[in-house]
Amino acid sequence: MNQRAAHLSNKIARKAQKAADIWAKNYWHHFPFGGSPRADRQAYLTLWEKAKAVSYPDIEAFETQKGFRIDPQWFHDLALHTQIVVKDSVLCYQHGRVLYAALREYAESRKKQWDQDKIPQGQRMLTILETGTARGFSAVCMARALADADMCGKIITLDLLPHDVRMYWNCIDDHEGTKTRAELLAPWKTLVDAYILFIENDSRIGIRRTATGRIHFAFLDGAHTYEDIMIEFDMVRQRQEEGDVIVFDDYNPVLFPGIIKGVDEGCTRWGYRKDVFGDRQGRSYVIACKNAVS
Ligand SMILES: C[S@@+](CC[C@H](N)C(=O)[O-])C[C@H]1O[C@@H](n2cnc3c(N)ncnc32)[C@H](O)[C@@H]1O
Repeated sequence: MNQRAAHLSNKIARKAQKAADIWAKNYWHHFPFGGSPRADRQAYLTLWEKAKAVSYPDIEAFETQKGFRIDPQWFHDLALHTQIVVKDSVLCYQHGRVLYAALREYAESRKKQWDQDKIPQGQRMLTILETGTARGFSAVCMARALADADMCGKIITLDLLPHDVRMYWNCIDDHEGTKTRAELLAPWKTLVDAYILFIENDSRIGIRRTATGRIHFAFLDGAHTYEDIMIEFDMVRQRQEEGDVIVFDDYNPVLFPGIIKGVDEGCTRWGYRKDVFGDRQGRSYVIACKNAVS
């Protein structure tokens, strides 16, 4: 193909890509959680009170083992706006506590290593990758962990949902009208601006096209299928080193058999040791830690 033909072909391909992009975004940009509030303010507050009243001894034990616990009042307040939704299944947002404690522990171990290796302060920084931003709850919990650890870092989080399009989010804020995710997260703006980079993209494409360097810590919580888990795990593990971590939620054989298969297969194939624990309410989490490459 001569250069003129190649240029023309590229122009057509880019136009087609733009059209496909608009088409693919259409669903996510037009009220994916419904065209009106799902419940009134009081209904969300009642759901919140009920969710807050449940105790989770296994999560507490996990926090004790790691040596870190997220500020409960701050945590529940964030959850009210980003986790309390009207849905058929039980509301549970304990993964925020798990992520916070696991990331704080990881940050401390990195600091020790950096001290040993005499790494200059300006080069001490963590890169975190998340798939499945949703309303931003887990990303903000991880941002809080970095801030409390006095750690520089960037949390790159991907979702098909846009950050700057107004919609109803099926949450308590809906009684104030439509909001963008940025507006929903305005009370946590300082943390958000300091640490979080929101990417609107399919994780399968987005991770590959984002040059992150080393991914120290990841939370893979996007599409819960075997295929997606394997693609994401594969892309992340190539950018990880010994001791780096991937957290998985919803490790449940009945509801999400694809996650079980993908996590088990990926850990064996790519050399991760797996710490699985449940919260006795039916939800299980996995902390996968990369072994030394032999
Ligand atoms: C379980 S929710 C994530 C919850 C969130 N981590 C939190 O703690 O609030 C899953 C999210 O993954 C997103 N998602 C599903 N498939 C995806 C894909 N292929 N790429 C990017 N995001 C995806 C959905 O839009 C949804 O917001």
